[in-house]
Amino acid sequence: MANKALWSGRFEKEMDEDVLAFTSSMDVDSRLAFYDVMGSIAHVKMLGERGILPQDDVTLITDGLKTILQEILDERMELEKSVEDIHTNIETRLTEIIGQSGGKLHTGRSRNDQVATDFRMYLRDRVLEIVKNVNDLQRALMAIAERGKNSIMPGYTHMQHAQPVSLGFHMMAHTFRLDRDGDRFMEAFKRINMCPLGSAALAGTTYPIDRRLTSDMLGFNSPTPNAMDSVSDRDFVLDVIYCCSTVALHLSSLCEELIIWSSPEFGFVEMDDTYSTGSSIMPQKKNPDIAELVRGRTGRVTGSLIQLMTIVKSLPMAYNRDLQEDKEPAMRAVETVLSYLIMSERMVSTLKFNTDRMRAMTEIGFINATDLADYLVMKGAPFRKAHEVVAGMVKACIESKRNLTDMTLEEMRSYSELIEEDVFEAIDLDNCVRRRCSYGGTSPRCVEIQITECIDTVIRRESLIEDAKKKIESSWERLLA
Ligand code: ARG
Repeated sequence: MANKALWSGRFEKEMDEDVLAFTSSMDVDSRLAFYDVMGSIAHVKMLGERGILPQDDVTLITDGLKTILQEILDERMELEKSVEDIHTNIETRLTEIIGQSGGKLHTGRSRNDQVATDFRMYLRDRVLEIVKNVNDLQRALMAIAERGKNSIMPGYTHMQHAQPVSLGFHMMAHTFRLDRDGDRFMEAFKRINMCPLGSAALAGTTYPIDRRLTSDMLGFNSPTPNAMDSVSDRDFVLDVIYCCSTVALHLSSLCEELIIWSSPEFGFVEMDDTYSTGSSIMPQKKNPDIAELVRGRTGRVTGSLIQLMTIVKSLPMAYNRDLQEDKEPAMRAVETVLSYLIMSERMVSTLKFNTDRMRAMTEIGFINATDLADYLVMKGAPFRKAHEVVAGMVKACIESKRNLTDMTLEEMRSYSELIEEDVFEAIDLDNCVRRRCSYGGTSPRCVEIQITECIDTVIRRESLIEDAKKKIESSWERLLA
């Protein structure tokens, strides 16, 4: 394939090979090939509709583009690394196939709007894929929550025993984080789903183009409203990387817990062999490497966010070549998060929880001390006073190496006359969990409500994804018909 730059007319010297390699974006934007062809088909059809190009040219160009599309899908297309970018590669190939008419395709558009359009289409698909996988992971966590809504475990603050909770409740806490992630992505999707094509270099065009038609043909919601903004805006990319970052942070936190919980000191969970690795020197080892890698790769995603923010900071209007650098961090972020989610879902679905061990751990650390204070409040003590009384009882138990439940009623009454026989029921661990039934609490009934609420939002997102996918796919079908 000839590798002449599309803009070489006013230049006297050939482009230096090293300079070409330095400026080329082929290593990343070859992923945009499919979208670039689709964008071009829509553009040329619109040019035909508006009488800007004769129908013969439109047919010739469309057929040429379809041939290229087939080459891309069959991985037969030679994507020249020594060509500036994917747009140049495709236009050059088109001219190779259909001759000089290929040169008519670039009427009323520029690579600046082309790349922004391609990238929006790429991210639109990736976001839908990510959200699907967020939903799947949520479902896996909710399955554990359903099974574990009666399994008691310590709830922690500062990694110290705080109050008893259920495993189901704990898993729902992670699930709701992901729920917000899913919603955040769908919000970002709305802003991605606008079409910059036809903005041309920066100022619109003198041809009587129909941007709304191009936008519709590509399954976008609307054209972007300002040409200069359209070619320079990368907010939609930042949105996506930010959304990826919150997922990465959330999964890193989930994995951190699973890593700690799988240590012998905790012994709360065992990872499946498939998602663990051994040691080359210590024969007994079973290491949670998958979870560690999810945690360890967080920096790839959050780093991408800082990278792109730094790229767009202080750029003057409108397009600047700096913007070519947006693709690598964004693609890295979405691809990392996708692989994360897939692995996490599989790892989570195969976890084996040691619920006896979890329960046994609630027996230490005076995890029902708040319940004892609440008991005194219900009997009429002011909360501050109750707190002080229970602290005294805890202190005595620490000294005598006992639990609060090991105290006799007599002994308890020496701390407060308000304490009666029903105290033992009040500080029974199952009751402590069952009674935390304020909205959002850990009681089994509350966890059931949380699961129902969360399933509803997952189902809502699943149908949004279906609709969005259908719209995109039917626009491809129409374009290729
Ligand atoms: N490869 C470029 C990018 O990704 C395409 C736009 C080039 N435009 C230009 N004026 N050099 O941003």
